[in-house]
Amino acid sequence: VRADHPSYGGRHHLPTLGVIGGGQLARMTIQAASRLGVPSRLLAAPGEEAAPALAPAVTWAPLDDTDALHRFAAGCDVVTFDHERVCPDAVAALEAAGAAVRPGSAALRFADKAHQRSVLGEHVPVPLHSVVTGRELAGLGSATDLVVKPARGGYDGKGVHVVTEPGQLRALAATGADDDRYVVEQHLAIEQELAVLVVRSAGGEVATYPAVETRQVDGTCHEVLTPARVDPAVQVEAVRVARRVADVVGAVGVLAVELFVIDGQVLLNEVAPRPHNSGHLTIEAAATSQFENHVRAVLGWPLGPTGLLAPAAAMVNVLGPADGSDPRHRLAAALRVGGTHVHLYGKAPAPRRKLGHVTALAPTVSEALRRARLAGDLLTHTSTPAPVLQGALG
Ligand SMILES: Nc1ncnc2c1ncn2[C@@H]1O[C@H](COP(=O)(O)OP(=O)(O)OP(=O)(O)O)[C@@H](O)[C@H]1O
Ligand SMILES: [Mg+2]
Repeated sequence: VRADHPSYGGRHHLPTLGVIGGGQLARMTIQAASRLGVPSRLLAAPGEEAAPALAPAVTWAPLDDTDALHRFAAGCDVVTFDHERVCPDAVAALEAAGAAVRPGSAALRFADKAHQRSVLGEHVPVPLHSVVTGRELAGLGSATDLVVKPARGGYDGKGVHVVTEPGQLRALAATGADDDRYVVEQHLAIEQELAVLVVRSAGGEVATYPAVETRQVDGTCHEVLTPARVDPAVQVEAVRVARRVADVVGAVGVLAVELFVIDGQVLLNEVAPRPHNSGHLTIEAAATSQFENHVRAVLGWPLGPTGLLAPAAAMVNVLGPADGSDPRHRLAAALRVGGTHVHLYGKAPAPRRKLGHVTALAPTVSEALRRARLAGDLLTHTSTPAPVLQGALG
């Protein structure tokens, strides 16, 4: 806490948390901070909707406005992020100016998938891959059955290109600059995808959540289940890999490690130094949510326990329906499904956009999934609600 800061020993006795990025992760981080009485400020880019509606103080600025970044940081005790799209050099400049930025610029450099693969591949198993420039990508010509990912900027599968036809590589390369970098790998037969959240506090404490199972459709996360239905040995290996990754990245706060299971082997897919979609179910299903633990970690406070509060839980994302309709209109129907927790982020609907999620706790994974899907389907209108609306489902 800076002695010249208005919150220091004055009106508030708790530090002010600055969050850069205005999406749902910022929204849920601010909700967790607010429950602890921690005042927060938000730096949002024009057009971001989910967090500004809830944040007590919002600064609007584009991500590359470094002056705005400095002014914002000067008004906060600790700065954190809801995405890793801020230029690491700009963050390094904030650090040099004395700001407490968590995770810091070194961790944010891992937003680059090529950097991840080259550094982390020295420590944990990663898929066979190569890193190529746009020029080299175009030169791969008619190769197919590949997956190509731009080193920077992908999210929700938007940066994942499955190459199945000759010519696709050249077309893809043409969308970027010659010296853009791409990770290229085989289209893998993935048995299962797991994610492990690791939390590292500014005080050096480390905690992990149990590995969850994630299910992607077209590269976008649709569902998350816990406990993951894997061998105990795979669960142990997943946590081991994730902790190793977290140590190498050195991030303070929550770090999400996405893993592939192939032939019983655990391989690192990617890492995100922030709270993550795979951890939304921790809000209701874990003793401490990923968002609260992120706040605790970046503020240097003791971490909360990460164990599950129910035998099983499932989370289903509410993605914008293809017809552009708004799930908010169907909220009342979804709320009649018993045993579920509906979260809507206050975002305008667009097809496939993440607009919310539903979590259910239950005695078994399949029962949790059934309930979460039921409410999720009602919100997105993909099932006919009539028969189940006779009363709250138990
Ligand atoms: N080599 C591959 N073979 C098969 N499927 C893959 C491969 N690489 C990625 N995928 C699929 O695409 C999904 C998204 O990939 P990745 O995590 O790299 O992208 P992203 O856009 O950064 O995703 P997000 O932000 O949603 O985590 C993976 O979870 C997996 O389902
Ligand atoms: Mg991913």
